[in-house]
Amino acid sequence: MVVTLNDKKIYISLLSFIVSFKQTLVSLEKDFEAAFSQISLTVTFGVYDKYKEAVEQLNQWAYEYYVLDNPTVEDVQYDALYQKVKATETTHPDWVLPESPTQRVGDAPLSAFQTVEHPQPLLSLENAFNLAELQTWENRLCKLSEGLETLGYVAEMKLDGLALSLIYEKGVLVRAATRGNGKTGEDVTANVKTIRSIPLKIPVNATEQTPPVPDWLEVRAEVLIPFKRFEAINAERLANNEPLFANPRNAAAGTLRQLDAKIVANRKLEAYCFSATNLGVLEGTQLHFDDAELSTVFPETLWQLQLALTAWGFNVNPVRKLCYSLDEAWAFISQQEQARESLPFATDGVVVKANNLALYKQVGNTAKAPRWAMAYKYSPEEAETTLEAIEFNVGRTGAITPVAIMQPVILAGSTVSRASLHNVGLMQEKGVQLRDVVLVRKAAEIIPEVMQVQVEKRPIDAEPIALPTACPSCETELVAKVEEDRIVNLICPNALGCPAQLQTRLEHWVGKKCLDIDGLGEATLDQLLQASLVRSPADLYRLMPEQLLGLEGFAEKSAQKTVGAIQASLQQSPIRVLHALGISSVGIETATVLLETFGSIDRLKEAKIEALQTVYGVGTIVAQAVVDYFAKPETQVLLADLTSVGFDFSKQAQLLSHSDNAPLLGNVYVLTGTLEDMTRDEAGEKLKALGAKITNSVSKNTTALIAGEGGGSKLQKAEKLGIPVLDETALMNLLAQ
Ligand code: IVH
Repeated sequence: MVVTLNDKKIYISLLSFIVSFKQTLVSLEKDFEAAFSQISLTVTFGVYDKYKEAVEQLNQWAYEYYVLDNPTVEDVQYDALYQKVKATETTHPDWVLPESPTQRVGDAPLSAFQTVEHPQPLLSLENAFNLAELQTWENRLCKLSEGLETLGYVAEMKLDGLALSLIYEKGVLVRAATRGNGKTGEDVTANVKTIRSIPLKIPVNATEQTPPVPDWLEVRAEVLIPFKRFEAINAERLANNEPLFANPRNAAAGTLRQLDAKIVANRKLEAYCFSATNLGVLEGTQLHFDDAELSTVFPETLWQLQLALTAWGFNVNPVRKLCYSLDEAWAFISQQEQARESLPFATDGVVVKANNLALYKQVGNTAKAPRWAMAYKYSPEEAETTLEAIEFNVGRTGAITPVAIMQPVILAGSTVSRASLHNVGLMQEKGVQLRDVVLVRKAAEIIPEVMQVQVEKRPIDAEPIALPTACPSCETELVAKVEEDRIVNLICPNALGCPAQLQTRLEHWVGKKCLDIDGLGEATLDQLLQASLVRSPADLYRLMPEQLLGLEGFAEKSAQKTVGAIQASLQQSPIRVLHALGISSVGIETATVLLETFGSIDRLKEAKIEALQTVYGVGTIVAQAVVDYFAKPETQVLLADLTSVGFDFSKQAQLLSHSDNAPLLGNVYVLTGTLEDMTRDEAGEKLKALGAKITNSVSKNTTALIAGEGGGSKLQKAEKLGIPVLDETALMNLLAQ
């Protein structure tokens, strides 16, 4: 083919076309690239936004679950979104938000905690134990306030946990520290981040009314472990052969000082906030303290501040009340004393705080505590005190009971200075010495007892306790009961002549669970003994009204009434009479089962030890005690004497539980808390009269727990075991059957 010029032209134009086409292609490609990159950019923006939204959503769900206690989604839905967030963070590590829930559990354990300085000291609180002490505090507060009003008081539960300082910078949690010595503490941020109810970032203000979140905010909180978690933790430790935590507070303290945040996360600490301070305004990294400015943006009262904290997403101490007067705060304190028993965590008092925040600066602090707050402490059921002396008493069986005389201490609402050591055997087992520091316990309605000696606190002048050799009442030489070379009991053998034994035996005889005779108190019995009018229970039934008239506190009418009450007691059930005889180890329950089996005291008297041992709940010791009692000549004398004044020992015990019409036969109940219409004992008697059995602790054999106001651990146990719980109305219905 010959190429002409024309052809050349065509060729050239073709070439230029190709070039320009190629250029177009290149530019198109560039455009496409640009377009693509734009697309991929928007795609990235979409994922990032979605990531941010997902973090926000997870935090909202966690807030609903952990703070509001009102979950709105199922766990699986939360977990699915959490996994997506986690995956996104793995591919985009630079995106990770500080408030992302993945940041709650750190990676590597710490090697030690950093010591940090608190921006303002974490003080402790002064304690008050009664209304008068609170009033003294209020008077001092008013004196110092120079006209500034308290604006009422915020009374709130004092949580028995550990103090935390939480610092938020521009709404982000930057540091959490323990109290330490008050001035410096330990940086436990990694551990505290595992607490779900503590926001890692304060969400944007909820409403227009919500005050703005200060740039630099310190929130004060109490960290704790609820009872249920505490029990679960200890159960696990027991299974792993690890030492147990003594109480929830120790468990929380041990957990907070764990270097591995993963372990902390597992323990599921909880935290409740109670106040906050505006520390200043941040400009860049510069902090300004400008009071005038601060006061315009921060709430003016503690109550408002707590409402703001709630609106900011914090878990604020739930048991609190705004009170207009100290009297109202006192009413709150009284009301909470019982109610606190059903709280899921430990509390040890109520903190009463002035509501006006401006007053805080005005009244200031003492060396250790703010003057604007006072902690009312509920008295504990257990406390340490010093043993000053031992008093040896003689009981109705002649056994010597050592009684500890101690420095007075407040226990379960009353001052206690005497506590039982039961018998010399137990006293020696405990190893108490004079001037020892001892741990005493008193639960409601129970006689205080010495639990243990705090040996590590033993003073150098502690002195071993010498055992008595003669009866402190009648001076008869004591007989030692020895088992395995150890003295387990000291006994006064003068059963019939020892005045102390006579007195306690008579007190027992007339007592509520025995013959229940009104009008014969300790003082009257003492007078009757002194006047030699009475030497045995039978003598009571020979008393004439005229004889009582000679005693202090008796007039004609009361003397007649008392003699009437004594005579009426002849009709009491043989179970009560058997209990009243005071056979060692035979309480009212054992007396019941013995007469359920043998019918009458006369028949029981003849029972052989083998027959006694077959009775449900009667062991060798009780069986032997019964045989020994009836074998004693003085018992024969006493029974004959009692018969002569009108007792009939052949009388069959009226055992409702044996009759066919006992509607609650076979049912076992436990009573707890305070009933309104009757005491627990009365309720117990009524249930027993219908054939029911009453026991002290909830087990799988319990038919139902009857719970009045303020039932505590028994209620928890019943719930755990799925045992039905009846309230007072249900009890009334049961009794009405
Ligand atoms: S107000 C001292 N309110 O008790 C600053 N404290 O014994 C004012 N505590 O260190 C504290 N519950 O850790 C306050 N509702 C409550 C409290 C409470 C527990 C702790 C707190 C403080 C300690 C003082």
